[in-house]
Amino acid sequence: MGGKVTVVGAGFYGSTTALRLAEYDVFDTVVLTDIVEGKPEGLALDMNQSRSIEGFETKIIGATTTAEGGGYEATANSDVVVITAGLPRKPGMSRMDLIGVNAGIVRGVAENIAKHSPNAVIIVVSNPLDEMTSLAQIATGFPKNRVMGQAGMLDTARFTNFVAEKLAVKVGVVKTLTLGSHGDTMVPVPSRCTVNGQALTELLSQSEIDDLVDRTRNGGAEVVALLKTGSAYYAPSAAAARMAKAVIEDSGAVMPVCAWVDGEYGISGVYLGVEAEIGRNGIKKVVESALTESEVSALKAAAEAVRAKQADVQTL
Ligand code: LAC
Repeated sequence: MGGKVTVVGAGFYGSTTALRLAEYDVFDTVVLTDIVEGKPEGLALDMNQSRSIEGFETKIIGATTTAEGGGYEATANSDVVVITAGLPRKPGMSRMDLIGVNAGIVRGVAENIAKHSPNAVIIVVSNPLDEMTSLAQIATGFPKNRVMGQAGMLDTARFTNFVAEKLAVKVGVVKTLTLGSHGDTMVPVPSRCTVNGQALTELLSQSEIDDLVDRTRNGGAEVVALLKTGSAYYAPSAAAARMAKAVIEDSGAVMPVCAWVDGEYGISGVYLGVEAEIGRNGIKKVVESALTESEVSALKAAAEAVRAKQADVQTL
């Protein structure tokens, strides 16, 4: 046990992530920040009071911050920083509709974090995910391996859940994979999906698989439409927290994440959802696996779509 993780943003996504990280009991300290005065301190107080019941020693510290950088001293020398800051979607909105407002918020947060935690690994979850990850790297000036985004873990978990429900099997026997963007150009990879080791394509028809793929691609929007205010946070926070844990434990686990791609699959110079080995310095390496020809072309199309948007983001 050791180390410090900061979660920026004490909304549902951030506060749930902070609690999950504290309950893992692997960090000394979890810092939770927000610009709403008193909210992170109040949530931290409440979470700390659950420690003796849940049996964890990690201390949670709440800190109100300002856009000008006030309050960031509490985050100093964090090993890992999870950025959840920004607005969530409203029903009917795409993740991309958030780009203008969230770019300003994420840029400011990233600059302040870089000042106080120059050696941190950053995990971005703000939307639109691939663009905000790219922006955080630019704003921090950190090496690209130390900035990544959370999306593939979540999209894969959604896909797995839908497959398990469809076939009435345990989630533990289902393996799925999604790559590409956390948006319209998400690339579910049926050729890498298995149930008890058996290919998904042998268990379901193409149209049944297509339906599950569609539901996965719209997985976030389906939750937003039901909630009416705010977006999903239980599965998203589980995904982000597991990534932060893999970093601090230097686990080398291979996870689908948004990472800088430099030649893999014939794609270069863009943040994109791929599988990568996660360790103490962030991305150890992008893991390229065997995909079908059509999956590779879908991944290339996703790369070009996010490349265009990531170029726009530099001026926002
Ligand atoms: C989702 C948001 C968090 O997919 O991107 O639920």
